[in-house]
Amino acid sequence: MSLVVRRMTVEDVPTAHEIDISSFTLPWPERSFRFEVTDNPAARCWVAELDGRVVGILVLWLIVDEAHIASLATHPDFRRQGIAKQLLVVALDKAYTEGARTAFLEVRDGNEAARRMYQKFGFEEVGRRERYYKDNNEDAILMTLKRLPLAPVFRLSDRGERE
Ligand SMILES: CC(C)(COP(=O)(O)OP(=O)(O)OC[C@H]1O[C@@H](n2cnc3c(N)ncnc32)[C@H](O)[C@@H]1OP(=O)(O)O)[C@@H](O)C(=O)NCCC(=O)NCCS
Repeated sequence: MSLVVRRMTVEDVPTAHEIDISSFTLPWPERSFRFEVTDNPAARCWVAELDGRVVGILVLWLIVDEAHIASLATHPDFRRQGIAKQLLVVALDKAYTEGARTAFLEVRDGNEAARRMYQKFGFEEVGRRERYYKDNNEDAILMTLKRLPLAPVFRLSDRGERE
C-alpha cells in the first residue's frame, strides 16, 4: 500500500466533493473546493492518495502566522488507517515552513474521533461557539495548537511523501 500526500488539483475537485458529502452533514458545494484550489491565495489544499486513489482531503487557510484547518475528511471506507494523521502532518509541516506558528480549528462537540485525533497532535480546547452548526444546533469546540512545528514524533513515516 502506498500513501502519498500531495496538493489538490482542479481535477481532484469532484472526488474531494464526494468525500466531503460522505463525511459531513453540511458539506461544501463543489464550487467551494474549486474556489479554494484556483482562487483563494490563502488556501493550501491537500489530498491523500492510497494506491493512486484519492481517499482523504484537507483544506488549510494560512493567514499570516496562523494555520486554520478549514476541512479534513477521510473517505468512510478508508478510516482508521492513519490517512488523516498523515494529511495533518504534511499540511502543518508545510504551513510551518511558510510561516505558521500556531494552528486553529473548530470541531463539533460530539465528534469524538476528530477531537481525539486533534488532542493527539497537541491541540487544546480554548473555547466553545454555542449552537454553531445550523443542522442540529450543535456547539463548536475551538481548538488551538499553540506552537508549531509539530514534535519530532510526528515526522513522516515512510508511507508518506511531501507534495
Ligand atoms: C476524523 C477523521 C478525519 C479521521 O480520519 P482517519 O483517517 O480515520 O484518522 P486516522 O486513521 O489518521 O486516525 C488518527 C487518530 O484519530 C483518532 N480516531 C480516528 N477515528 C477514531 C474513532 N472512530 N474513534 C476514536 N478515535 C478515532 C485516533 O486517535 C487515531 O489515532 P490511532 O488510530 O493511532 O488511535 C474521519 O473520521 C472523518 O473523515 N470523519 C468525518 C469528517 C470529520 O469529522 N472531519 C473532522 C472535522 S473537524
